[in-house]
Amino acid sequence: MLLWNDNFSIGIEGIDLQHRYFIDLLNRLSLELKDSDAAYQAKLIDELASYAKQHFISEENIMYKLGYPGLKKHSEYHQDLLEKLNGRIGLYLLDMLEPDEIISYLSKWLIQHIVQEDKILAKFISELK
Ligand SMILES: [Fe+2]
Ligand SMILES: [Fe+2]
Repeated sequence: MLLWNDNFSIGIEGIDLQHRYFIDLLNRLSLELKDSDAAYQAKLIDELASYAKQHFISEENIMYKLGYPGLKKHSEYHQDLLEKLNGRIGLYLLDMLEPDEIISYLSKWLIQHIVQEDKILAKFISELK
């Protein structure tokens, strides 16, 4: 269970809300995965990957509109995660990885990314005012 912690807040409400939702989704899916059959588990994992993609597009749109100089580097981190996530989903579909390993991998990545890269973006946004 991943608890929201004020250290995760970057101070930009629209992005913080998405991060909170992302963490809620990770927690909900980690519970649901335990009692689900393989077909439903695959749907849950797919839902998670879709939300990750959607969140990254939303952040990249904000960066683009604001002329954020770190857009390219930040987008590469997002892209890299999506590729690693796809690789893990592939292993899971081959029964070579437990679904909760996907959740824990993504949880660790998300927290680290929020407190590092997303906070750098937030600093840039707050200095625009
Ligand atoms: Fe983010
Ligand atoms: Fe990000």
